[in-house]
Amino acid sequence: MRTIEWDARGVVRMIDQRRLPLELVIVEFGDYRGVAQAIREMVIRGAPAIGAAAAFGLALAARQSRATDSQALLADLEQAAAELRATRPTAVNLSWALDRMLARARSGQAMTVNSLIQELIAEAQRIADEDVAINRRMGAHGATLIQDGSHILTHCNAGSLATVGYGTALAVVRAAHEQGKRLHVWVDETRPRLQGARLTAWELMNEGIPMTLIADNAAGHLLRSGRVDIVLVGSDRTAANGDVVNKIGTYNLAVLAQENGVPFYAVVPTSTIDLTVATGDDIPIEERDGQEVTHIDGCQIAPPGVAVFNPAFDVTPHRYVTGIITENGIAYPPFDQSLRQMVAGERGDRR
Ligand code: MRU
Repeated sequence: MRTIEWDARGVVRMIDQRRLPLELVIVEFGDYRGVAQAIREMVIRGAPAIGAAAAFGLALAARQSRATDSQALLADLEQAAAELRATRPTAVNLSWALDRMLARARSGQAMTVNSLIQELIAEAQRIADEDVAINRRMGAHGATLIQDGSHILTHCNAGSLATVGYGTALAVVRAAHEQGKRLHVWVDETRPRLQGARLTAWELMNEGIPMTLIADNAAGHLLRSGRVDIVLVGSDRTAANGDVVNKIGTYNLAVLAQENGVPFYAVVPTSTIDLTVATGDDIPIEERDGQEVTHIDGCQIAPPGVAVFNPAFDVTPHRYVTGIITENGIAYPPFDQSLRQMVAGERGDRR
């Protein structure tokens, strides 16, 4: 099944990513507030996946509304969108999907309430379907960079589970694997929430793609000893100048990659590029509960009462980024020009 899907009974179904890899549990929501909570608690996570979740959440809000005219329905949707938008601040796909849903609701003000609700469900479904198609296009562009026999290093989970399906950074891995290229993936465990160990390892092993799990602090050693040919990561938001905001620890990798002459690419649907923010420093960095650091699977590993700082993302300045792979091609520096072309839908792969 996809990471998230709409069920004809009028409920949203999603894989509970907190339970993987030991249990594959599907949870269902008929209330948009449940979806908001699921995003906050990372039942579903990953920038494109939470965008789709927000869109389906708004479709649920439309079904739940008691409005008798389209204007009142729009007011209910704006309220629900504000709640969904507040769940996680960094990934721009969340706001992008909500804005697209609200724009559809505004343009459908002449419709009856029932037809508008159906149209909003269809729009959320389009967002989900387009995500998979876009990821396949990113995979095809990115696979041109992967040589037969490559060793790829990745961080966090930028796979199927971070999207509706097929992934971002792992879309490139999948596409190259499907083309018959021999490859091997080094998977950072990705503390504190271990998305690499729990999710990326699960996905790659399920598909028989050769991989090895490493502790985060082993990455520098591998890069220095020539055991990595390319670093591929996703992004939660990419600024107009090409600064990449992604899972905490990405910046360390990018600096170490450049120091060791290893190319570093972000794999990013254009919905993740935010041209309204000039640099990565303008992007809000989510800070999460300290328990994510002091505990692993409920087991306390630090002294009670210890002070903790737990930023969920970091900024990789664009000077460390070799290229940004989008569904419209691969953007190269100067990113302030090439990213605009990608967002405008112009064909890329320009150096
Ligand atoms: O906190 P998470 O697990 O939602 O963070 C996810 C990431 O950082 C991914 O790398 C990112 O969403 C891009 S991959 C689709």
